[in-house]
Amino acid sequence: MRLVILETSKSVGEWAAKYVAKRIKDFQPGPDKYFVLGLPTGSTPLGMYKYLIEYHRQGKISFKYVKTFNMDEYVDLPRDHPQSYHHFMYQNFFQHIDIDPKNVHILDGNASDLNAECERYEAEIVRAGGVELFIGGIGADGHIAFNEPGSSLASRTRVKTLAEDTLRANAASFFDNDMNQVPKQALTVGCGTILDAKEVMILITGAQKSFALYKTIEEGVSHMWTASCLQQHGNVLLICDDDATLELRVKTVKYFKGLMTVHSKLIEDSTD
Ligand code: PGA
Repeated sequence: MRLVILETSKSVGEWAAKYVAKRIKDFQPGPDKYFVLGLPTGSTPLGMYKYLIEYHRQGKISFKYVKTFNMDEYVDLPRDHPQSYHHFMYQNFFQHIDIDPKNVHILDGNASDLNAECERYEAEIVRAGGVELFIGGIGADGHIAFNEPGSSLASRTRVKTLAEDTLRANAASFFDNDMNQVPKQALTVGCGTILDAKEVMILITGAQKSFALYKTIEEGVSHMWTASCLQQHGNVLLICDDDATLELRVKTVKYFKGLMTVHSKLIEDSTD
């Protein structure tokens, strides 16, 4: 595992965008070789999307040969609802870049057969050759995608009922603080689906996520803190701000800060 600790949430967005740009450029995607990217919604990745859009506008990165798979989508929320993840993704990212909409994949929370939709999604990921880089965030309760506490760490894409903490957090951020407006269920990739990706990159910002980060990396693997499943993955990159490290041991923070010169090489020449 690599942990990159930066001063502010803004620098987390910038660093993450540079890393994504470099991974795509180094991969040299083309018509016979698409780069497959797993994507999150939420407040945390917004900065990264803004920087990626900027690099695209500057001609430094193209998404022409990129396929995307989003992590999750609410059940029974109309696709054009301002808080649907379809809407979020087009509004905050896809409509500003050169991705072909046919290469965008987002679960359909309005499908008549939700289980069949989840199976179709898993098959689609396999058909695309698997995810090269899965990007995500974590919830304050340690969830990854909508894999709430107690989810199987071997889980695949399926219907999940959202935990009280998640309903509250999403109501505050996106639904006028009204928990009744937040859909109670979602379709989500499983922990197993994420662990199948060749690389996983997680963004964590703010003191409210610091306990979850501690549980994710400093304690054992537990289905009560599903992001801790990442300890079992061979290629994980966590990018956080100083506030998110508040619950980590001083020696953990010191160790990873000491590796910053090594980590900086990961984004060298990313946006030249
Ligand atoms: P946030 O959500 O980025 O809005 O904090 C992250 C998550 O719940 O996974």
